[in-house]
Amino acid sequence: MSAQDVDIYYGEFRAVTGVDLDFGKNEITALIGPSGCGKSTLLRSLNRMNDLVEGARVEGKVMFLDQDIYAKGVDPIEVRRRIGMVFQKPNPFPKSIYDNIAYGPRVTGMKVDSMDDLVEEALTRAALWGEVKDKLKQSAFGLSGGQQQRLCIARTIAVEPDVILMDEPCSALDPIATMRIEDLMRELRDDYTIVIVTHNMQQAARVADRTAFFTALADETSGDRTGVLVEYGQTSQIFENPRDQRTEDYISGRFG
Ligand SMILES: Nc1ncnc2c1ncn2[C@@H]1O[C@H](COP(=O)(O)OP(=O)(O)OP(=O)(O)O)[C@@H](O)[C@H]1O
Ligand SMILES: [Mg+2]
Repeated sequence: MSAQDVDIYYGEFRAVTGVDLDFGKNEITALIGPSGCGKSTLLRSLNRMNDLVEGARVEGKVMFLDQDIYAKGVDPIEVRRRIGMVFQKPNPFPKSIYDNIAYGPRVTGMKVDSMDDLVEEALTRAALWGEVKDKLKQSAFGLSGGQQQRLCIARTIAVEPDVILMDEPCSALDPIATMRIEDLMRELRDDYTIVIVTHNMQQAARVADRTAFFTALADETSGDRTGVLVEYGQTSQIFENPRDQRTEDYISGRFG
């Protein structure tokens, strides 16, 4: 998957400018940078989630398997099935644990031999099965925050995506639940391409193969701040040997 010269607007306001980024298959890419630099906006452009945001508009291309996901005739629902998303706050449906997983396969009309097997498989892959196997019919709201987030990951996996986008998936979780999600990401990497937005630089350093640093630049005439990609590379290079002073200032905590 790649972003090619992507600009993203909210009405007249250009929130993101000129982003070129190649995402490695079966790699974890972290997007980092100060608040308001457009990380969530860019992430949402990668599966057309911005279509659902009032006033949002994307220019440029997002290529996925040799196809621009914004090209005419592309079905955004199918895009979002292939490129799934996990949000900052766990957002299970007001349904049972079982039905949270079964919902996606049902509504997308997936051909499923045994829904029970599919539910077990998704929950196992999300490292949640052991904790919930005896209460599948209970409400998902009865789970802890960390369990709910793993349920949301299981729900995303259940429709067999190729890519998983995660927007600060651990920011509402304690350190132990965070570790579990990080372990899970490392396991899922074998089968999925993962893009994660995180404010936690240790987390980026721990899990990401490559890291992209963004910042917000003020437009000289309007004064509006727009998000730009400053530097992109192997995570170790970004953290140990940044090429741009702005990256160095950010990762060393001199700039927030
Ligand atoms: N729905 C919206 N309508 C208008 N402007 C928006 C909308 N969503 C975001 N913006 C603006 O776009 C810019 C980028 O916001 P975005 O949420 O992508 O930043 P971010 O890097 O994810 O920040 P944070 O780290 O705080 O989550 C900001 O100036 C923000 O105010
Ligand atoms: Mg954000």
